[in-house]
Amino acid sequence: MITFALPGFEPLLSAAVSVRSRLPIERFPNGELTLRLKSEVEGESCVVIGSVAPPDEQLLALLLTADTLERHGVTAITALLPYLGYARQDKLKRGRSLGIAWLGRLLSSCGIGHVVTIDVHSPHVAGLLELPLRSLSPASVFAAELNEAELLDAALVAPDEGALQRCQSVAEAAGIEAPVSYLRKRRTSAGVAHGEVVGPLNARAVIVDDILDTGQTLVSCCRELQRRGVEDITVMVTHGLFTGEAWKKLRTLGVSRIYTTDTVPSATRAASEGVRLLSVRPLIEGLQPV
Ligand code: R5P
Repeated sequence: MITFALPGFEPLLSAAVSVRSRLPIERFPNGELTLRLKSEVEGESCVVIGSVAPPDEQLLALLLTADTLERHGVTAITALLPYLGYARQDKLKRGRSLGIAWLGRLLSSCGIGHVVTIDVHSPHVAGLLELPLRSLSPASVFAAELNEAELLDAALVAPDEGALQRCQSVAEAAGIEAPVSYLRKRRTSAGVAHGEVVGPLNARAVIVDDILDTGQTLVSCCRELQRRGVEDITVMVTHGLFTGEAWKKLRTLGVSRIYTTDTVPSATRAASEGVRLLSVRPLIEGLQPV
C-alpha cells in the first residue's frame, strides 16, 4: 500500500500509514497543475489524503493525482478526505446544483473507488455520492477533551435538530447521561436565526457542530443561549473553515473556548488566533485501504 498526501496534509500522513510518499504537485507558469510520481505504483493499492478545502485547489490536485495513479496501473484508490466538501449541497432543489453528487461523479471518473471521511455532514450523503463511504466519528476526540477541560457537567447543545445525533455521540463517548438539547433554527433573509431550545440547559454549555464556516450559525446560537442565561459557552466543531471575519464575533460574545480539529489546513491557521486544535490522527491511525 502506498499513501500520498496532498499539500498541507503531510502531518496526518505519518499517522495513517507505513509507506509514505509526498506528492510533488507543481504548477506550470500559467497555473496548470502537473504531477510526476517518484515511485513505482503499478499493482499497488493507494490512499490519497487531502480535504476538499480550499475546494478549487485541493479538489483539482486530488483528481489529478487519482487519475495519474490509475493511468500508472494501481489496483485500487481510496480517498481519505477528512473534510468532505460539497456535502452541504445534499438536496436537489429546483434550479440548484447537487454538489455532492457531482463530486461523486468526478471522484469515480478518476478511479477513486472508496471514500473515507470524518463526520460527514448528513447520513444521506453516502447515497448521493454513489461511492462506498465510511465516515469516522470524532466523538472520542471531543469526549477526551471534555474530560480534560472539566466540562463534563456542561449541557451539550446542538445548533439544530440535524446536529442532534452528532451531539448525542459525543455525550455517549464522554459518559454524559444528561439528555442533550438542540435549538430550533430557521433561515431568514438576514441569515440564520435560533429560537426555542428543546431540552435542558444550565449555566455552562458546549455547542457541538460539524462545520464552522462563516460562523453565522454559531454566533446566532450563542446569542440565543446567552439570552436564556447560559454564562459559559464552549464551541466544538469538527471542520474549522473559518471563512471571513464574522466568526471572530464569537470572541466578542465572550465564548470561552473554541475547539476544532485538523481536518482542514484553515483550522491549523486559526490555531494562531486562539482556536484550540484537536487532532483526528487517533481516528485514522492504522487505517487500511479497502
Ligand atoms: C449546517 O447545517 C451546518 O451543520 C453548519 O452549522 C453550517 O454550515 C455552518 O455554517 P456557518 O458557519 O457559515 O454558519
